[in-house]
Amino acid sequence: MTVGPTRARTPTAAQQLALDLPVALPAIAIEPEWKAQQRLWGHSFHPMCSYLASFPAALAHAFIARYSRPGDVVLDPFSGRGTTPLQACAEGRIGVGNDLNPFAHLLTASKVEPATRPAAMTRLTQLRLGWNADAPAWSALAQRVVAVPARTPIPAAGSRTGPTGDAETVPVEVALAFHPDTLGQLLFVRSELRLDDRTDRFLAAAITGILHGKSASYLSELMPNTFSMAPRYVRDFAARTAFESPRRDVFDGLTSKVDRLFRQPGPSTEGVALLGDARDVAPRVQAALRARGRPDRARLVVTSPPYLRVVKYGYYNWLRTWFLGFDARAIDATLDDAHHREPYLAFLRDVLAGLRPILTEDAVVVLVIGDVETDRGRRIKGGVGLAERAWEQAAEPEGYRLAGVALDDVAAVRKMTKLWGDEAGRATKTDRILVLGATESGRRRALAAASLDIEWDWPPRSLRAL
Ligand SMILES: C[S@@+](CC[C@H](N)C(=O)[O-])C[C@H]1O[C@@H](n2cnc3c(N)ncnc32)[C@H](O)[C@@H]1O
Repeated sequence: MTVGPTRARTPTAAQQLALDLPVALPAIAIEPEWKAQQRLWGHSFHPMCSYLASFPAALAHAFIARYSRPGDVVLDPFSGRGTTPLQACAEGRIGVGNDLNPFAHLLTASKVEPATRPAAMTRLTQLRLGWNADAPAWSALAQRVVAVPARTPIPAAGSRTGPTGDAETVPVEVALAFHPDTLGQLLFVRSELRLDDRTDRFLAAAITGILHGKSASYLSELMPNTFSMAPRYVRDFAARTAFESPRRDVFDGLTSKVDRLFRQPGPSTEGVALLGDARDVAPRVQAALRARGRPDRARLVVTSPPYLRVVKYGYYNWLRTWFLGFDARAIDATLDDAHHREPYLAFLRDVLAGLRPILTEDAVVVLVIGDVETDRGRRIKGGVGLAERAWEQAAEPEGYRLAGVALDDVAAVRKMTKLWGDEAGRATKTDRILVLGATESGRRRALAAASLDIEWDWPPRSLRAL
């Protein structure tokens, strides 16, 4: 289904203003069908672990299906939990993801360079046997940690030094979150898993997805699944409610999680996950693709750059980063989501300039831009109208061509439709999606394919043969 009026007529300036649409930017007739899909639409690896400000797999599909073919390279320089590259790999494209956050890199790598199911299951059995052999020592360690967390030494993540390893201590809030038996198993698994090993990395990523949440499938019920509550809140809450975590078996939980992840076979194509700054992604992407004998230019970019410092990815994931052995504070210090609009736009311009050498002549670049109005209740200066400024101050000066702006909000599109009828209504706020061509031929391709009907069955019938 397509929305007639968006195709038939370009809105007038008055209509665009009434809708909060930028006067200068034309609309593009891409219907936001992704909003109508099931929450878990797409490959079964997508829900490996929640990640703040991620977009749905269906959104990535809407652009991947229209603007790339099997075998093309599809890139996301801010890949987060890997939505774009995973969906691309699952559709026979070469999905390339890059992120500066090591937790995001881990999630992306686990999806586009995943373990096989047999390897994951074999390693799980090996871990279970290792635990059985040494459970009393690890359980005793966990008991000591619960009694005096900040003074009981434990082995480092990935050190494989056994329960006597003494590299660090456990934050109080971590000790509070788990039943002592669960904590013992977690300390063991944490010290065993090596993140530079594909299978271990996959299992570590799967554990981050079940670490905390409000149901029996999670290892701690202290916090919701979406993000870690502030450590101080956790301490106060645990004290106030005399919180005691139910006993959960890490190996059983992980086995069920791996079963859920492999509900579908792994993605049909292997992708690439890179760790680093989006501003200098081009040489790293090119080197990685050449080393794998793949085409070295991207035909499509689908990405949502970090918004105006809305999310602190380290702080909001401190329990997961602890498990992985990452430093949450260091992550937040490195990620440069700018606080203000001007530096943000300069950053985006640098990113778009840096991408140029690895885009094909007819490449399409899709930027999902949040019109951020508030950050936890506080109004952000310069948040609204971000997409318009992104075009004027970042994309246009770097020679990109504008195909149009798509709305990602069904309600807004309905109001838009209504507006053409009765000139009434004011759109709800939406994300704006800038669709750009790397050159004029990219812009033409973007326009020509915008209204193509694409398949929404998952897995798509056309791909079942791939
Ligand atoms: C809005 S999120 C992307 C979410 C992603 N689309 C998904 O579906 O999961 C923005 C990402 O930009 C990353 N980031 C922030 N600064 C960066 C930089 N300078 N270079 C690369 N990535 C960066 C953050 O770690 C975060 O994962």
